[in-house]
Amino acid sequence: MIVRFIARDGTITSAAATVGDRLLDVAQTHDQPLEGTCEGQLSCATCHVIVDPADFARLPPASADEEDMLDLAHNATRTSRLACQIHLTGALDGLTVRIPG
Ligand code: FES
Repeated sequence: MIVRFIARDGTITSAAATVGDRLLDVAQTHDQPLEGTCEGQLSCATCHVIVDPADFARLPPASADEEDMLDLAHNATRTSRLACQIHLTGALDGLTVRIPG
């Protein structure tokens, strides 16, 4: 499967991924600037991504804890998510996310 990252300068990276991968790990493998400081413990929001609105409904809803952390993320939008909380499934093939400014 493929996921796409859109960088701050508009560069698009198509990344090969496997069902079960965490989006954060795929991003870091492909040199995307997501720090993921807390390594998925929901205490940093440095893994914030903005999901393409066309793809947002394909994702399972965020947990209350993820929503709380997103409230603290810079430049959060209605389609913001935390990449450490997104586990890829076959239904997410072609997912496109933007790296926030
Ligand atoms: S890596 Fe810290 S909240 Fe996702």
